[in-house]
Amino acid sequence: MQKVLITGGAGFIGSHLAAAIVERGCEVTILDNLSTGKLENMASFREKIRFVEGSITDADVVADCCKGIDTVFHEAALASVPRSVDDPFTSNLHNIDGTLNVLIGARDAGVKRLVYAASSSAYGDSETLPKREDMPYAPMSPYAVQKYVGELYLKVFADLYGLSTIGLRYFNIFGPRQDPASQYAAVIPIFITKLLAGEAPTINGDGSYSRDFTYIDNVVHANILAAEAPDPGGVTVNMACGDRFSLNELYECIQDCADKHLEPNYGPARAGDVPHSLADIGLAREVIGYEPLIDFKTGLAKTVAWYMDQEARV
Ligand SMILES: NC(=O)c1ccc[n+]([C@@H]2O[C@H](COP(=O)([O-])OP(=O)(O)OC[C@H]3O[C@@H](n4cnc5c(N)ncnc54)[C@H](O)[C@@H]3O)[C@@H](O)[C@H]2O)c1
Repeated sequence: MQKVLITGGAGFIGSHLAAAIVERGCEVTILDNLSTGKLENMASFREKIRFVEGSITDADVVADCCKGIDTVFHEAALASVPRSVDDPFTSNLHNIDGTLNVLIGARDAGVKRLVYAASSSAYGDSETLPKREDMPYAPMSPYAVQKYVGELYLKVFADLYGLSTIGLRYFNIFGPRQDPASQYAAVIPIFITKLLAGEAPTINGDGSYSRDFTYIDNVVHANILAAEAPDPGGVTVNMACGDRFSLNELYECIQDCADKHLEPNYGPARAGDVPHSLADIGLAREVIGYEPLIDFKTGLAKTVAWYMDQEARV
């Protein structure tokens, strides 16, 4: 891995990945349309990369970005279940057409490995836990359908064209720089920033819904392993910690980390949300040699500390 393209590199996950890859001395190009990503996410390494402001829906831009690249990390997407429920057409365009453009661009440029950000939402609400990759899929939202279609394309491009691909099916990734301000923000940054501002957060449902919350450093580590593993042949593996916590437990832990306590509000459960999620990470161990580096509580403490530090700077 020497010349690397990261789509969505101005976003939460992509910018952490980019920082780690720049640190390894690779030449990095980032393609991002800044729809949810931010220039400030790239501030610490901006001078060391080539940044292309453009969309993966533009096949010519993608083809140009893929020239001379040996590894592609495809992180760009409209990464939100509620947004896809509100506007399935637009998210389809970015998440399926955009992904197809990236696969075609990578194939035509002779890229050696493409790593794809897949989503645990593909599993839907089957009650069997932990989720294993050989279980039936049951997407419950347009977003889940779209991310799963990306996985199917990865396999077809591996089998049909010999493009070396692998998908990492992310389970609720969290960490510094996750945007709490978006209308579609993830739960952890919302809970933390509300609590720090002295406002009670709203828990959707009764707080019993649970997730395999995964700290960002684990995902960065897994992406690098996935880029360097022997040819995975288009397989998609779970990417998580293999442990789950309810929203009530999550909020308790956040309060402890922040040393601040406020009773939460409870609201209706959100359309398209699955009740429980927990990964079996055995296949990731086998295929790419993955082990989580940072457990949930350690990651949460680091994340709360980062938001407290941000607040202190304002
Ligand atoms: N965060 C999670 O828990 C999670 C879980 C499962 C899967 N994922 C996947 O991981 C990837 C990264 O998610 P994230 O949480 O960092 O979200 P994010 O919104 O912070 O990052 C996505 C990035 O993609 C960019 N983007 C969107 N559409 C684009 C387009 N058409 N062309 C170029 N750039 C575009 C955005 O500007 C943003 O920088 C996504 O593919 C998402 O589906 C994330």
